[in-house]
Amino acid sequence: MQRLYIFDTTLRDGEQSLGITLNVKEKLEIGHQLVKLGVDIIEAGFPASSPGDLESVRTLAAELKGVTICGLTRAVPQDIDICAEALRKAENPRIHTGIGVSPVHMEKKLGLNPEQTLEQAVFAVKYAKRYVNDVEFYAEDAFRSDPAFLVKVIEEAIKAGATVVNIPDTVGYANPWEYGELIDFVIKNVRNIDKAVVSVHCHNDLGMATANALAGIRAGARQVEVTINGIGERAGNTSFEEVVMAIYTRRDGYGVKNNIKVYEISATSRLVSRITGVAVPDYKAIVGANAYSHASGIHQDGVLKDRETYEIIKPETIGVPQNIISLTARSGRHALKYRLEELGYKVEGDQLNDVYKRFLHLADSKQEVFDQDLYVLMGDPEGKASNILLQSMAISTSGIETATATVTLEIEGRKFTDAACGNGPVNALFNTIDRMTGNDAMLEDYTLKSVTRGSKALGEATVKLRYNDGRLVVGKGFSTDIIEASAKAYINALAKQNHKFSKSQA
Ligand code: KIV
Ligand code: ZN
Repeated sequence: MQRLYIFDTTLRDGEQSLGITLNVKEKLEIGHQLVKLGVDIIEAGFPASSPGDLESVRTLAAELKGVTICGLTRAVPQDIDICAEALRKAENPRIHTGIGVSPVHMEKKLGLNPEQTLEQAVFAVKYAKRYVNDVEFYAEDAFRSDPAFLVKVIEEAIKAGATVVNIPDTVGYANPWEYGELIDFVIKNVRNIDKAVVSVHCHNDLGMATANALAGIRAGARQVEVTINGIGERAGNTSFEEVVMAIYTRRDGYGVKNNIKVYEISATSRLVSRITGVAVPDYKAIVGANAYSHASGIHQDGVLKDRETYEIIKPETIGVPQNIISLTARSGRHALKYRLEELGYKVEGDQLNDVYKRFLHLADSKQEVFDQDLYVLMGDPEGKASNILLQSMAISTSGIETATATVTLEIEGRKFTDAACGNGPVNALFNTIDRMTGNDAMLEDYTLKSVTRGSKALGEATVKLRYNDGRLVVGKGFSTDIIEASAKAYINALAKQNHKFSKSQA
């Protein structure tokens, strides 16, 4: 069986397109999990696009071992210089450079004719090659290009030193059979194609990214570019978990193998969702909350007789833990530790005592603590060091139009209390926190959802704050009281930014 390389671009095509600024720490946390998952290449960012991206690529390059770290560039020297510098400490660095090759990209976006485009492509690959041996060339919007021109560009890019050639369907326009035919055409017509790995990169505008990528793999591509949960530009990128599990489940159809530890898929999906603030739909293939639940009577009867009646993947295969003990306020440390270990968390000593204390607090307000609650407990931002903490809050409302919030915060070790009005409890709360912290970022999005079922469910609040310089920061908060969850989410977003508090306001 031939090797299929898994190229993860969650931190570049995924993150950049969301408009969400993941900070270095968040990118590193996802990066470590991607290494655990077994991806071959991590595209860590586009270093020339912002100082934050540059710092992230630099950090991941220095910290992550046993994986190729890749940075994206346009086909211009300054991008490539910056990218090479960011990758300096990588064990295995790769520069991903390229240019638009479709008529609309060349004429309208770049103002270049085909000869000039070809010249710039060759120049960029040669320029990147001065820094690193591993250079991937992307022919942006390849699917809408003239196939004869595409073949020429790819052939010249390989001649210039490209080790991987990426044939993207940038706008998600292809049908699966057409995309497979294009990959086949490239493989059959590019004379030096044996000197490079062919890569597929598909967007999901018509909901066909996974099908297209798989068609490309069947046609001979040996690298696939994916994002966790399929996050990305517009309708998203090719979903990592769909491609990997399609190949795992239907391996006879592809004849390729990879290094992915499929039992890490569920944990990776949850982590990316938590950090990016992008929820996974319940009905999402492979990682959606409903992907392994059977609702209708006939199906339930079937799976009780034999799971294979309605299940093609066992949830435990991708690391969805199977629950055998129910956790309540009467459960001891041992039961909690056992369950957490099953969920992939190792907790001992003081950390176990701390988690157990918070577990009991939660269990007191709920009858049963579910796995989803435990994930929250383990990732709960308030458990981590923060320069701002919610001490207490009270809301009073008069009618439905106005509310007053009184909030006590601990800011950099000192306690402050203040109050403000708003047109509802949450608005009053956020206005008070703004007054106390001097925050001037705009609230761009605010969502509430319940983490588990039932009236005692834990509520999860997500806020997105837009800063004047364009950065978008996600904050999350959890509580059985949704107003408290909202306050915690708001404070979490401020704390993430290392918000500098003006003492006069504080
Ligand atoms: O979709 C695309 O064409 C891309 C390239 C920049 C690789 O993301
Ligand atoms: Zn893309």
